Amino acid sequence: MDWKEKIDKDRLPRHVAIIMDGNGRWAKQRGKFRTFGHQHGVKSVRETAEAAAEIGIRYLTLYAFSTENWTRPKSEVNALMKLLVRTINKESKTLHENKISLKAIGNLDSLPDITRRELFEAIKETQQYDRMTMILALSYSSRWEIVNAAKTIAQKIEAKEISSADIDQKLFESCLTTNTIPDPELLIRTSGEYRISNFLLWQIAYSELFFSTKYWPDFRKEDLYEAIVDFQKRERRFGKISEQIIK
Ligand code: IPE
Ligand code: IPE
Ligand code: MG
Repeated sequence: MDWKEKIDKDRLPRHVAIIMDGNGRWAKQRGKFRTFGHQHGVKSVRETAEAAAEIGIRYLTLYAFSTENWTRPKSEVNALMKLLVRTINKESKTLHENKISLKAIGNLDSLPDITRRELFEAIKETQQYDRMTMILALSYSSRWEIVNAAKTIAQKIEAKEISSADIDQKLFESCLTTNTIPDPELLIRTSGEYRISNFLLWQIAYSELFFSTKYWPDFRKEDLYEAIVDFQKRERRFGKISEQIIK
């Protein structure tokens, strides 16, 4: 099936977010260590970024490491952090070639120095590109982000910059790490798990969800395109009734 051809270019989601899951099981199926799966997931990141940029997606957010992932065995966490440095380094070529700017959300202070340095360098080097923004969620969890936003607001009140009456959705959103990024219209999760795992809870209030049974290292361009075609078949009502929706 040529999914790309079926995409209506006028009705693209502006922002696609992906929970990249299943690296460990992919490796296990092949009798390898979990890190083997993480290594092979890099190709899927490259393919997905290229595929999204090719059709004109403006924002692509990838959940790469959650706050909860710090509780994995130390050896896996270390391997993931090392892989991250290598990948950012190697894949900066993909970013330049495709004119993709890099951003990151999450508790970046908790990353090892070298990882953070590489990350900030790649962010700086690509900031001029506006074809697509790729956002890596690193040491990210939505509850962490929401609690942080609440703290920021409390501090503004303490400093008498605002009063509690000023708190509304817009103000709250402006205190989230995603404040410059529109909400994702489409959220994809791979590996046949049907959960959100603490990802963008506020931002996905009205996102369409697409679950793929493929493990992340098997995810390719056509899989992204299939999800977008599926998204385009849906009627997004935002609480209204069907007759109220202008087609
Ligand atoms: C996703 O794959 C990558 C990260 C969470 C870092 P997993 O490592 O969760 O792989 P599975 O889900 O155990 O197969
Ligand atoms: C979610 O995957 C986090 C990332 C993809 C980075 P997990 O594999 O950590 O999620 P759970 O633990 O199965 O919910
Ligand atoms: Mg997993």
